[in-house]
Amino acid sequence: MKTPIVVSITGAAGQIGYSLLPRIASGLVFGSDQPVSLRLIEIEPGMKALAGVVMELNDCAFPLLESIEATSDLDTGFDGANWALLVGSVPRKAGMERKDLLGINGKIFVGQGQAIERSAADDVRVLVVGNPCNTNCLIAMKNAPGIPAERWHAMTRLDENRAKSALAEKAGCHNRDVTRLAIWGNHSSTLYPDFENALINGEPVSKSIPDTAWLEGDFIKNVQQRGAAIIAARGLSSAASAAHAALDTVMTLNSVTPADDWHSVAVASDGSYGVEEGLVCSFPTRSNSHKASIVQGVPMSEFGKSKFQLTVNELLEEKSMVSDLLPK
Ligand code: NAD
Ligand code: LMR
Repeated sequence: MKTPIVVSITGAAGQIGYSLLPRIASGLVFGSDQPVSLRLIEIEPGMKALAGVVMELNDCAFPLLESIEATSDLDTGFDGANWALLVGSVPRKAGMERKDLLGINGKIFVGQGQAIERSAADDVRVLVVGNPCNTNCLIAMKNAPGIPAERWHAMTRLDENRAKSALAEKAGCHNRDVTRLAIWGNHSSTLYPDFENALINGEPVSKSIPDTAWLEGDFIKNVQQRGAAIIAARGLSSAASAAHAALDTVMTLNSVTPADDWHSVAVASDGSYGVEEGLVCSFPTRSNSHKASIVQGVPMSEFGKSKFQLTVNELLEEKSMVSDLLPK
């Protein structure tokens, strides 16, 4: 048997946690020969529900699930973590923007960043899902200066998946036919789903969808507003699709991205595309199975550049809103 991989998950008793956990424990994410030790983190009021989740995981009798630790102590929760999935935080309600959560959620990521630095494994990689995920990731990363910036990620894969599905529906093809779909910027209502560089069956999107007004209008708006549409319909924010996108992200980061494709994840900018260094911004990326690199030289029209600038400006605004949580 291989040495178990240690996966820490915050907010483990929440909606997304409930969808994530059985799939991780089953071997779907890290491999069918890879045992997994789960470290499940909740705040005190969530511990009772978490005990029920643990009972259910035990009742699945997963052959690859080596151990489960349920805790509200951050150092216990992140002890030896190879992967930390930071989901725990408050979701928005109808009528709110995700950045309205910064006041309540931002501070969570100070203590979590510090605890990850103290307690996680040397090779820890982090994916932030809790909103607003880009800026929460920035907060955690800045509070863990000993962990290389390349190990921090925030989730925009759900937006990529939504955009692919919307293009496929319009083009009358399957979503697997849509490749190179980059989400640029923030996981927010300013995100830019880049239809100009996406391909459908290896050809520019405009060949299958010549309706530029739709691409520049409703397509972008619907992807930007999809989270709000789900909240309006369910009365709760997305969970099954969010958990799925989180697992897509981890699996993509753990494998080699084919040279003719890319995927979206927010990473600490290295200055690419003029984005301030360190800002956690979504780009097209390729992974070598250990590290995601920003794809260079992706062309952008004036239209694309203006959309990208808007979303980067919002990230800068969010950064200034949390300056008290970022160590100098
Ligand atoms: P939820 O309310 O169902 O669950 C959140 C859980 O986190 C709760 O059990 C709560 O007790 C726990 N929690 C709160 N503060 C915590 C803390 N400091 N430490 C540990 N646990 C804590 O919410 P959910 O639907 O699972 O969503 C979780 C977060 O994910 C929200 O912020 C939501 O907006 C975000 N989200 C992001 C994306 C994305 O694409 N990036 C998609 C969907 C949801
Ligand atoms: C989503 O995109 O579904 C999540 O970020 C939840 C939300 O608040 O919209």
